[in-house]
Amino acid sequence: MREYYIAGNWKMNNTASQAREFAEALVDELKDASAKMMIAPPFTALESVSSIVRGTNIVLGAQNMSHKEYGAYTGDISPEMLLDLDVAAVILGHSERRIVFGETDELINEKIKLALSKGLEVVFCIGETLDEREAGKVESVVRTQVTKGLSGVDEGSLKHVTIAYEPVWAIGTGRTATPEDANNVHQFVRSLIKELYSADASDRMVIQYGGSVKPDNVKELLDQSDIDGALVGGASLDLESFRAIALCKN
Ligand code: PGA
Repeated sequence: MREYYIAGNWKMNNTASQAREFAEALVDELKDASAKMMIAPPFTALESVSSIVRGTNIVLGAQNMSHKEYGAYTGDISPEMLLDLDVAAVILGHSERRIVFGETDELINEKIKLALSKGLEVVFCIGETLDEREAGKVESVVRTQVTKGLSGVDEGSLKHVTIAYEPVWAIGTGRTATPEDANNVHQFVRSLIKELYSADASDRMVIQYGGSVKPDNVKELLDQSDIDGALVGGASLDLESFRAIALCKN
């Protein structure tokens, strides 16, 4: 039985002091949630949030990470820097990193391998654009992203990877894939993991859905056979909404 996994991606929102206040409220509101939960504040708020979520049922995540361990990479953040703040998970391959910052499958693959080698858990984002969906390319796009992103990741390390399927056209737009459409892609991703690894790895793989997840659509998404959680953007910034999402399977 796969465990439900709800993650909040705060994106570029909340200063360190706003984040501290919000995290304190979250710790209190989410203490009875049965799902695994992660929040990913911006880098500048990691330190303040770290001390608040330490010892609670909320995992601390980062939204990105360098593909290098250290050195002359102006503006980048290394895995050691994250580990030092008790960050346990990192979101990699988010469509905003791919589209706005030009991250390629190859770069994302380097980041994934580095994160895993350092003991970080990875939430690996994939998903097609609207043009790709309309051109009937969902499966080929997702196949390329998964295959290249996980290239060189062995089955043992794969246990520390969660896949987040986030159709780009559904992110921040208020449009969600129908639960059935999303589930079809999740099933395809699961079959791909079986092809690339094993039936065991495929059964174990936690696959989150992301893209305008809200309290009023999360239940029917999570009721699908292959949707194991949610990566939540906008609604993770609101205490009541994130609470409702995190507790929807309690
Ligand atoms: P959204 O973002 O929930 O605001 O659509 C999801 C994401 O980008 O992870």
